[in-house]
Amino acid sequence: MMDLMRIIALCALIAAHCVGASPPNFVLLFADDLGYGDLGCFGHPCSLTPNLDRLAANGLRFTDFYVTSPVCSPSRAALLTGRYQTRSGIYPGVLYPGSRGGLPLNETTIAEVLKTQGYSTAIVGKWHLGVGLNGTYLPTRHGFDSYLGIPYSHDQGPCQNLSCFPPDVKCFGLCDQGVVTVPLLFNEIIKQQPADFLQLEKAYGEFASQFISDSVKDNRPFFLYYPSHHTHYPQYAGADYAGKSPRGPFGDALMEFDGTVGKILQTLEETGVINNTLIFFTGDSGPELMRKSRGGNAGLMKCGKGTTYEGGMREPAIAHWPGFIKPGVTRALASSLDILPTFAKLAGAPLPEVQLDGVEMTDILFNLGPSKRQTMFYYPTDPSVKYGVFAVRWENFKAHYYTRGAAHSESTPDNSCSLLAFLKYHDPPLLFNLETDPSENYNLDGDQWDAVRKQIQAVKQQFEASMVFGESQISKGIDSLLEPCCIPNCRPKPECCRCNSAL
Ligand SMILES: *[C@@H]1O[C@H](CO)[C@@H](O)[C@H](O)[C@H]1NC(C)=O
Ligand SMILES: *[C@@H]1O[C@H](CO)[C@@H](O)[C@H](O)[C@H]1NC(C)=O
Ligand SMILES: *[C@@H]1O[C@H](CO)[C@@H](O)[C@H](O)[C@H]1NC(C)=O
Ligand SMILES: *[C@@H]1O[C@H](CO)[C@@H](O)[C@H](O)[C@H]1NC(C)=O
Repeated sequence: MMDLMRIIALCALIAAHCVGASPPNFVLLFADDLGYGDLGCFGHPCSLTPNLDRLAANGLRFTDFYVTSPVCSPSRAALLTGRYQTRSGIYPGVLYPGSRGGLPLNETTIAEVLKTQGYSTAIVGKWHLGVGLNGTYLPTRHGFDSYLGIPYSHDQGPCQNLSCFPPDVKCFGLCDQGVVTVPLLFNEIIKQQPADFLQLEKAYGEFASQFISDSVKDNRPFFLYYPSHHTHYPQYAGADYAGKSPRGPFGDALMEFDGTVGKILQTLEETGVINNTLIFFTGDSGPELMRKSRGGNAGLMKCGKGTTYEGGMREPAIAHWPGFIKPGVTRALASSLDILPTFAKLAGAPLPEVQLDGVEMTDILFNLGPSKRQTMFYYPTDPSVKYGVFAVRWENFKAHYYTRGAAHSESTPDNSCSLLAFLKYHDPPLLFNLETDPSENYNLDGDQWDAVRKQIQAVKQQFEASMVFGESQISKGIDSLLEPCCIPNCRPKPECCRCNSAL
């Protein structure tokens, strides 16, 4: 049985040369501010995630999967380009509605890689890699044929009217004031402003299903990227899920995301392509612990969003491809950086001619051999040449050269997560064995670890010598005239930017 699977898998690896084999479809599911401990299949006792749990049960669950940043925009840049955000310039922090910068157009995204092989491509959900003058940086300029979604986070605009559960109760907390309400875009056109958040996931599910059906009908391989705004703050859900989870608004938001995943799965089954589709799921960064019991949960990982501890950057991940990926759990080291090279390999697409940081992970997916990845580098939210990487994972060891808490991880009992845990340099670096101590509690400070520290130092030096920082896109600043407005020349802004069209 396994031999046959291996042969099929190997055949898929060289799809272009395999008589009769058609290249696989790809569905990339991406959650927002979701912690290592948030899913049912990653141990949360009362999250209701039946569809993600089903993917995990019939697919490969990763225990050691990393993103490249503990906040949104940089993590998304790395996911789509296979390069650390320092190269593409998506730092420090995140993009804003009026940001002048965005993901540079000369970066090559997964969508562009797959388009060379005739794939149809779509994104449904939260982009957060820039809008810019006349939509310069929108997904439609980055290889996506179509787009339905919000251009940035749903708290980056006044959201006081967003109702939570019960449906007539305002959501907990505040969002950004003095900017336009968050628009819903269809390709480059503003379809609604403000976006009707209570209907959003329903619209996403319909858009995704339509895209899949159309691609199947056209007999074209497809790439669907679904980065949800769930489970980012403020957590809420539409009518079908509000109040349904024992976990409160966060659980409702997660359930609604899981429901859209279920709808996508159902469409893949009904259109008969589920066995020819690689589904990959992960999240962009750790949970926002400052929201206390209303935020996510990093499980046994230390701290959360905004920090370079495990809770900030280790994410749940699942790969699913019936008949090709054997159900199970892998402890292999892997990263969101590795998705672009993996999809490229499976599609028979050439890699972009740039310095990639990702390595393809078909050996892990098809159980053919060990991971090609031995290291992971942890950049803070504000990377700089001066400080370099804050931490390095090499094999099962992690060394912290700098540590710092974060506002996003405020209010946990662990003081090292707090904003008041200021930047601290460690010489020698703090050293943890993540296999015996995944929670980073017990520093290995004895001399017997000198060889490990030396090895990590060498790996760090080699990596940093290869790192060329791209011009910071976020430091280009903000121009309020660039905020997306459905009536471009109206006054007074931002209040006049309102268009109440139905979905
Ligand atoms: C994109 O253009 C910028 C500015 O010319 C350059 O610095 C950068 O290296 C280019 N990036 C790629 C991936 O070619
Ligand atoms: C932006 O779009 C507007 C309206 O379509 C147009 O008048 C303007 O020239 C465009 N600006 C640039 C720099 O392309
Ligand atoms: C919130 O709702 C009130 C009353 O319906 C309305 O006057 C106000 O403009 C809304 N605010 C936003 C930011 O949508
Ligand atoms: C997918 O493969 C499974 C197992 O071989 C089979 O039972 C199922 O019918 C297939 N589904 C489709 C839609 O081809």
